[in-house]
Amino acid sequence: MIGSQGGECVLELLGEKEGTVLELCASYATIQSQERSAGFDEVIGQYPGIHKETWNLENDMKDPAYDRVYVKKDELEKVDVIFANNDAVALGAYEALTDLGMEKEIPVVGCDGYTGENEGVDLVLQNKLAATISCPTGGKEAIQYALNILEEDSGVPKQVILRSHTIQKKNAREYLERIRKDYEDNGEEITVGYSQVGTESQWRLANTRSIKEAAEEFHIQLFMEDANQSQEKQIEAIRSFIKKKVDVIVVSPVVETGWTEVLKEARAAGIPVVMSDRKIEADSDLVNTYIGADFVEEGKRAMRWIRENVETGDGTKKILELQGNKGASPTEERRKGFLEILEKYPRYQMAYSAYGDFTYEGGKKIVEDYLKGQEWDIDIIYSHNDDMALGAIEVLEEHGIRPGVDVTIVSVDATRDAFEAMTEGKLNCAVECNPLLGPQLMKAVRDMVAGKEMPLRIITEEKVYDQTTAEKEIGKRKY
Ligand code: AHR
Repeated sequence: MIGSQGGECVLELLGEKEGTVLELCASYATIQSQERSAGFDEVIGQYPGIHKETWNLENDMKDPAYDRVYVKKDELEKVDVIFANNDAVALGAYEALTDLGMEKEIPVVGCDGYTGENEGVDLVLQNKLAATISCPTGGKEAIQYALNILEEDSGVPKQVILRSHTIQKKNAREYLERIRKDYEDNGEEITVGYSQVGTESQWRLANTRSIKEAAEEFHIQLFMEDANQSQEKQIEAIRSFIKKKVDVIVVSPVVETGWTEVLKEARAAGIPVVMSDRKIEADSDLVNTYIGADFVEEGKRAMRWIRENVETGDGTKKILELQGNKGASPTEERRKGFLEILEKYPRYQMAYSAYGDFTYEGGKKIVEDYLKGQEWDIDIIYSHNDDMALGAIEVLEEHGIRPGVDVTIVSVDATRDAFEAMTEGKLNCAVECNPLLGPQLMKAVRDMVAGKEMPLRIITEEKVYDQTTAEKEIGKRKY
């Protein structure tokens, strides 16, 4: 994120999108430096007219950068802009350029954007750096989440991705004001329009309960519309919320695409939008934040469990996949994550895959259709959610096939029904996807209305359960 924003900033400085960039990599061995460089390359690499040269410095201090730049005057003649992956190195480069009389020809962009004297933002205000990309420290958020963990709050996120900003002379003072301001929540009632996917699964019902309970707890008037898995109904609901002039719109989007037009209408009406549970493909400035799980990781965890618990011997194991609804982020990403691990182990083969729309009946139908076409020859079922897995289990039993014994079944969600099936030996593994997003969502909504900057993304935690842990865990399940 920081590196790519540095790339966008350098593109802006280069104007016609061509020229030579000198990248000063501080301590290239660090993951931070590598990620910033990789993000920078992702943006710059799209422009064949831009040539990038990289100098790796032995550390991330100012003086070695000064020394390196100062002695290379002849190599600087062709450089149009310098990108340093921290502000100290950027300052060293600037001071060397100044002593060489070249500071006006070669703008310098740094990273970190801290706010102390002679730190990134101050250097921009002193006209020494053309820009710096802020690296949020996350201190306040870390303390808040530590308290949530100590208080054993549910749904504490696994990861929070904070926003970084491109700070230039034109926005530096406003940036300082915003981050120094303490945003007080006035406690007044907030109105939220929530477009919910539907009632397709036990997970969804638990998610809806969590949202409604949290709305009450956080003094939020909630208008929730159930779309019965129809994007058209969700778009209608969003338009009704705009008309109602709610404070915030929250969407759990049934599919990833087709939202831009209605989200632009919400933006034009000045109503912030939050994506809850699922993600969409849209410009990042149309969505304020996303709260939900890492579906790709869930798919990976499902296949890792299979790899570690289902022996192939010298043969191969055939997999049947029950997919959610086409185009939904959990469907696309659980499949993506699963296949990413699967392709490394050729003794496991994806034999059949179909969409079951996350419903019990959908799971039943896939297995019934499969059995109409051939004898049962499947060793493993991978289901994108518990409801489809339980529907499949019903059909298997009707055909005298022992679920959990003749066929290993791995599912996602880890609802109470899944735990019961695991304790009965009919389901082998359930990867958790926490539906209790209500408290985190409503806290984020109140923070946002109070003026606080929202994280780019709040990612919930997921654990993996199987028959060795189900008995112990089932009593704790709240959904
Ligand atoms: O978006 C989360 C998914 O939607 C759950 O895994 C599934 O049960 C629900 O339908």
